Amino acid sequence: MGMDALLNDAIAAARLARGIHLYFQEKGFSTDTKTGPTDLVTQADKETEAALKDFLLSRYPDHAFLGEEGGQEREAEYRWIVDPIDGTVNFAHHFPFYAVSIALEVRGELELGVVLDSSRDELFWARRGAGAYLNGRAIRVTKTSELIGSLLATGFPYDVKKDRENLTYFERVLQKGLTVRRPGAAALDLCYVAAGRLDGFWEVKLKPWDVAGALVVLREAGATVTGIEGEPYQLGNRYIVATNGLIHDELLDTLHGRG
Ligand code: IPD
Ligand code: CA
Ligand code: CA
Repeated sequence: MGMDALLNDAIAAARLARGIHLYFQEKGFSTDTKTGPTDLVTQADKETEAALKDFLLSRYPDHAFLGEEGGQEREAEYRWIVDPIDGTVNFAHHFPFYAVSIALEVRGELELGVVLDSSRDELFWARRGAGAYLNGRAIRVTKTSELIGSLLATGFPYDVKKDRENLTYFERVLQKGLTVRRPGAAALDLCYVAAGRLDGFWEVKLKPWDVAGALVVLREAGATVTGIEGEPYQLGNRYIVATNGLIHDELLDTLHGRG
């Protein structure tokens, strides 16, 4: 199966999702909670995921589909990994920083990643071995070589009281006087590292659908992506640290409280 056709369909699916996001932003939507009062799911999350599943599986009925809201029904060599809205809390509050994320994994290897920022209409995409792009222009990580001059970002799980590690990491970064943001949409945060808008990002407990699309973009843009011990990142890892490579060891040392 041609990767170009698959990529074009992934981009078309992302544009379909954006249309649904903008429709609900305009018309209004209902909101429910999931694991707790701040873990939200909106009508737009559910309808976007249903539309993406329908769009992709009607074209590729043999493929598997993993979505945040509906999970995965079956195994297959080709698997779409979808977050219908990354940044749902932002979306629910009309804070314009959220995206759809779509990745294609083939026999366990991520081949395509597409992340579309609905508010800015910024399309990040990458195909393994073919570079990373933002609205058609090649992107690359920064050349910042020291943490002190870097712009960093992170995020927190919804059950932060239970999973407190990132409070410790966050404090260590702040104590060093470093500059850090918490934008609220991990897929976009990671693409911002790829595009040279952030020098580094870390988070704890992200799920495959938060990361998969951006991971292809990061790799193709020259980023270093590891777990907390510096081991190569794999989908499902508890920790992710993504940087331009040059500040990676210094950021790992800081998170661990070394030096
Ligand atoms: C969340 C966002 C957020 C991150 C959370 C994720 P969702 O995804 O990416 O930035 O801090 O850990 O769960 O729920 O908006 O799809
Ligand atoms: Ca997400
Ligand atoms: Ca989501």
